[in-house]
Amino acid sequence: MTTNNVRVAVFVSGGGSNLEAILVAQDREELGKAQVVLVISSKAGVQALERATSRQIQAVVVERKTCVNDEEFEAKILNALNAAKIDVVCLAGYLKKIGPSIIQQYQGRILNVHPALLPKYGGAGMYGHFVHEAVIKAGEKESGVTVHLVDNEFDHGPVLAQAKVPVLPNDSGEQLAQRVLAEEHKLYPKVLADFCQKLKR
Ligand code: GRF
Repeated sequence: MTTNNVRVAVFVSGGGSNLEAILVAQDREELGKAQVVLVISSKAGVQALERATSRQIQAVVVERKTCVNDEEFEAKILNALNAAKIDVVCLAGYLKKIGPSIIQQYQGRILNVHPALLPKYGGAGMYGHFVHEAVIKAGEKESGVTVHLVDNEFDHGPVLAQAKVPVLPNDSGEQLAQRVLAEEHKLYPKVLADFCQKLKR
């Protein structure tokens, strides 16, 4: 990889299917200047970690429960980001709130993927199956995925891109989740590549 690449850290908490989509795009040289060099997981033993280590990408676990307070949690994360000289952070299935010191240092350079058409169906508690069940319960005819910049509120920063999917009459939460997830995997790598191409450092 050339030295002028944009160094990216991906934050995960679980399966890491979005991480996988990003790393497959990287394997195919479809990420442009973006180079994933670090994965940080909020949980040990999750499949997302193996997706990084199997590609010899540094993977670090920073668990809130091992920290005495939020400040220590943020400091551990920032230490890992600074040591790896990270330019851009991508949240991908990451379930912890990003603390203010990280938001400040990476202002305008933290991306997140949310499985709904924000600003609707976002915010605290709106993650995973809760999102899709709320969309179906509300009788929405369409849903989708949003990639947005992260600020100090959940699912709240400026939207970078969205992609829509239909909500079908007898959809279960799981069926809608799978349809949205497939769109996430297509959209996120593209948005990351485009964002890093335009980034002024
Ligand atoms: C996805 O639905 C994503 O939208 C949300 O977390 C879920 C799991 O993501 N942010 P992953 O499979 O761990 O990437």
